[in-house]
Amino acid sequence: MCGIVAYLGHKQAYPILINGLKRLEYRGYDSAGVALMQENGISLYKCRGKVSELEDYCSDKNTTSTMGIAHTRWATHGEPNDQNAHPHLSEDGKLALIHNGIVENYLVLKQELISRGYKFKSNTDTEVLVHLIQDIYKSEQVTELAEAVRLALLNVVGTYAIAILSADNPDELIVAKKGSPLLIGIGKDDYFVASDGAPIVEYTKRVVYLEDEEVAVLNLNKKLEIKNINSEAKKRAYVQKLELNLEQLEKGGFEHYMLKEIFEQPKAISDSMRGRVNTKKDVVSLGGIIEYEEKMLNAKRFIIAACGTSWHAGLCGEYLFENLVRVPVEVEYASEFRYRNPIINEDDVLIAISQSGETADTIAAVELAKSKGATVIGICNVVGSTLSRLTHAGSYTHAGPEIGVASTKAFTAQVTVLALMALCLARKKGKLSLSKYHQIINDLENIPEKITEILKLNDSIKEIAKYCADKRNAIYLGRGINYPVALEGALKLKEISYIHAEGYPAAEMKHGPIALVDEEMPVIVIATEQETYEKVVSNIQEVIARKGKIISIVSEGDTQVKKMSDFCIEIPRTEELLTPLVASVPLQLLAYHVALLRGCDVDKPRNLAKSVSVE
Ligand code: F6R
Repeated sequence: MCGIVAYLGHKQAYPILINGLKRLEYRGYDSAGVALMQENGISLYKCRGKVSELEDYCSDKNTTSTMGIAHTRWATHGEPNDQNAHPHLSEDGKLALIHNGIVENYLVLKQELISRGYKFKSNTDTEVLVHLIQDIYKSEQVTELAEAVRLALLNVVGTYAIAILSADNPDELIVAKKGSPLLIGIGKDDYFVASDGAPIVEYTKRVVYLEDEEVAVLNLNKKLEIKNINSEAKKRAYVQKLELNLEQLEKGGFEHYMLKEIFEQPKAISDSMRGRVNTKKDVVSLGGIIEYEEKMLNAKRFIIAACGTSWHAGLCGEYLFENLVRVPVEVEYASEFRYRNPIINEDDVLIAISQSGETADTIAAVELAKSKGATVIGICNVVGSTLSRLTHAGSYTHAGPEIGVASTKAFTAQVTVLALMALCLARKKGKLSLSKYHQIINDLENIPEKITEILKLNDSIKEIAKYCADKRNAIYLGRGINYPVALEGALKLKEISYIHAEGYPAAEMKHGPIALVDEEMPVIVIATEQETYEKVVSNIQEVIARKGKIISIVSEGDTQVKKMSDFCIEIPRTEELLTPLVASVPLQLLAYHVALLRGCDVDKPRNLAKSVSVE
């Protein structure tokens, strides 16, 4: 949430900052701003709206500078408007600050600063920080700005990734972080700072991930200096290689990132499996968890914690683990889990699932489980993210960068990794016969090809979307492992098309939701070949009797449900436990086309951000 970029060097900073912001826009896009160090001090340009609007606003401004900071915002405190956009200036205009995170005790700090005569121009929590730093810098006779920043941060409850420019120190950029991501790119003779590697990758692959409660001083005339909040200097910054390619960040000929990412699923799933399945040796091996495999084999219970789409993947994980590994699984919304004083034992294994690896609630759930002595395993897409560094062990999904705000390929890659984990543990625990194991592995290996087939239905799904586009509501139904698919389909539709959609286990309809069904209600049913197929057929009958319109996802060659449906999408057959990998794809395409027909901004849906790094 919120993206920050900064540059210090000899190149022109403005184009680097603007391009960087565009790459970070998935983190928030309700306002944007830039502060540039110029001969006569700091120049500040900011406005409500997307980065392109900031670009228009700056088109007639002097943007010549070799040092600057920039921000794209997802509003938490204060509505999206020009005043609340970052950067924020100190009262004397000599400090400019950008911030990603939340200052939870901002009201207390603000009152204190107001009583000392500070005037606030915005409603943000961030403006408190810049005044606080200025206050300490001046009133406590601190000689170095970095020291004032450190002292100010000691007063902050909450999370931050910040970058600060100072007109009095025009060669220096100060950055700090706690709970929000920040990395420093080290160029030949310049520095880059960003919330993730995307704005940096074309300039350098040498990066330092700042740790929590560290403050770094970037100065072209000195070595990179990092201290922690207690003023202890770090001996040496650990420089790592950025695992990212520029091509992965482009749209590659697709109209939207979301569509590109839907079409990338055959490759994403193959990449998730690569090197992990050895059919000759009859094993699945997940290198990242080997050291903790024993703990997983002895686990009395698995707790899966995640949010949103990743939580839906977690629900699929529950079916996979309970069916194959035969160990109880609880799937938890990370946001609820952390606050309800959960019972966590040392022989529990918590699996945290997150595409970004920066979701605040998921990270808090991980910290809680670790503090209670449980083993914590991550399933994460972004290499080097906070989650991947916090867990005891884990498996990357290797889906490649996901930029569209609506998660698609990350979901199928997460389910793939969960399936691999379940297969690995089930075999080692002796819970799965070799023949069944071979059958599932074989089906898993054929999934990419099957998705390629489904993607060929894109045009016919577009036609179905025309029927849905003017509807106000939709219901998604599924049973068994297709129930989370129904939830995921509904989430996709509501988040990008703003049509109200609900996912239900099909049999629950008659306990309430069926009251909503009339001739205006599209009911999307996942009715693939499965144990409960006949029951789903009865549930469809109940909807038809109330004049609901049926859009069904069925297995190739199905006749029964097809006959009952107003629209029908046939998908290749697969092992029942793997159906989410195929059945979710037409639902992603349906949501995409409906949103497009309704004129919505598919990649940047209103009110959302991709990386939810605040509570
Ligand atoms: C929905 C979506 C969100 C995320 C959720 C968790 O399309 O993208 O619901 O799934 O915010 O994010 P991660 O997986 O990054 O923890």
